[in-house]
Amino acid sequence: MALYRLIYVSQAIAGLEYPDFIEISQKSEFNNKKVGITGMLSFGDSMFLQVLEGSRRTVSQTYNRILLDKRHVNAELIDFSEIEHRSFSVWSMKVVQITNQSEVRDIILKYSSSDVFSPISMTGEQSLNFLFELTELYKKGAMG
Ligand SMILES: Cc1cc2nc3c(=O)[nH]c(=O)nc-3n(C[C@H](O)[C@H](O)[C@H](O)COP(=O)(O)O)c2cc1C
Repeated sequence: MALYRLIYVSQAIAGLEYPDFIEISQKSEFNNKKVGITGMLSFGDSMFLQVLEGSRRTVSQTYNRILLDKRHVNAELIDFSEIEHRSFSVWSMKVVQITNQSEVRDIILKYSSSDVFSPISMTGEQSLNFLFELTELYKKGAMG
């Protein structure tokens, strides 16, 4: 079956707190596992950057549901492509907080004009490579 990858960026509403992330993370893992979606959700400097992988129908349905969520606004689609294979297959949805750790800021700077996390200014390729490098850092156990 054809596989698809969707990447979008959105702005968190003011006052979003840690329990919100826990809830989003738990719901995402539970729901995504049921329908075969994998991916990663990064959050920092009031922005979300998320990648979803799976069948066209499940990715579309999940994205449509996420768009209705009042905890974020101004979602912009960065990429929706057919892919050969998944890149985040180990995670139903890994939620990663963008911290001020220098290794994290170095990756942001590599793909942006400054070290402020502004995924809205990234191309599809930049945002994907950014998430890949964040994944590598996480897997090395070098994050936060
Ligand atoms: C930035 C962001 C990303 C989210 N990502 C997912 C996701 O990948 N999968 C998911 O099921 N819900 C995700 N959610 C939560 C959904 O918007 C929604 O609250 C949830 O799917 C409802 O689940 P329920 O019908 O089981 O209560 C996300 C919410 C936000 C704000």
